[in-house]
Amino acid sequence: MVAVEKSFVSNMFSVEGKVALVTGATGALGCVLAKAYGYAGAKVFMTGRNDKKLKALENEFKAEGIDCAYAIADPAVEGQVDAMIQACVAKYGEVNILAVCHGYNKPAGVLEQSVEDWQKIMDADCKSVYVVTKYVAEQMVRQGKGGKMVIVTSQRSKRGMAGYTGYCTSKGGADLMVNCLACDLTAKYGINVNSLCPTVFRSELTEWMFDPESAVYKNFLVREPVGRLAEPSDFVGYALFLSSAASDFITGANCDCSGGYLVV
Ligand SMILES: NC(=O)c1ccc[n+]([C@@H]2O[C@H](COP(=O)([O-])OP(=O)(O)OC[C@H]3O[C@@H](n4cnc5c(N)ncnc54)[C@H](OP(=O)(O)O)[C@@H]3O)[C@@H](O)[C@H]2O)c1
Repeated sequence: MVAVEKSFVSNMFSVEGKVALVTGATGALGCVLAKAYGYAGAKVFMTGRNDKKLKALENEFKAEGIDCAYAIADPAVEGQVDAMIQACVAKYGEVNILAVCHGYNKPAGVLEQSVEDWQKIMDADCKSVYVVTKYVAEQMVRQGKGGKMVIVTSQRSKRGMAGYTGYCTSKGGADLMVNCLACDLTAKYGINVNSLCPTVFRSELTEWMFDPESAVYKNFLVREPVGRLAEPSDFVGYALFLSSAASDFITGANCDCSGGYLVV
């Protein structure tokens, strides 16, 4: 008898009924993933620092029948993260999936950048990942049912770039943190922790790179076997896969989400 259950295959990508907590839900990738979780039948708890944008997302999602709520929190501030998780648990009873989608950059060369500005990037992109994953891990361990964590880092986590000592270092730290979190949390508590490492996805900040006539766009295409830059929806399938039972044997992975950028 071939050892795979039909019921497992039929349901392995499902997140239906799960509670998905999304940080940076106001951002280009976060809002698309939050809505995708909702379309897939999850209860969606969104967080970010911008009340107006979160409220607008809540209204939009609810109008489409998505069960969702939000709380304001700065992901690098322990007290705010703790309160945000408590608000999620008060609303939905638990947290099953964490998607970390917030991020920040202010590129500057090492000679021009202040230590304060560098630290701000480190706090936003690295310390915050520790704070959010630590508090969510504590909650998931209390629940005793395992869980899934998907951390959005960057292809810049693996390679340097002028003006990016803050961004590359923080994203590299977050990827290595994911490796360590998997060692702490998967075997003992059934919590899988993986990162997704994107190249250029369309957002307010990257829109200018999508002009097909620009040198930046043409240079990127030389390194993109997929033949185009990415739309936020390109990231949904991978994130849902890493949030579902289909990826139970995958943990501590820094997953390429780049359209083949690494192979050229
Ligand atoms: N788009 C790309 O091309 C690309 C490529 C590689 C990696 N990434 C990474 O993917 C993630 C999502 O990217 P995105 O394009 O969706 O970004 P985005 O549109 O700029 O949104 C990111 C969200 O992060 C929050 N944020 C901004 N500054 C922050 C700070 N100092 N501290 C805490 N939160 C802050 C903001 O929400 P609030 O203001 O509501 O807090 C913002 O909506 C980020 O980690 C980014 O570095 C993106």
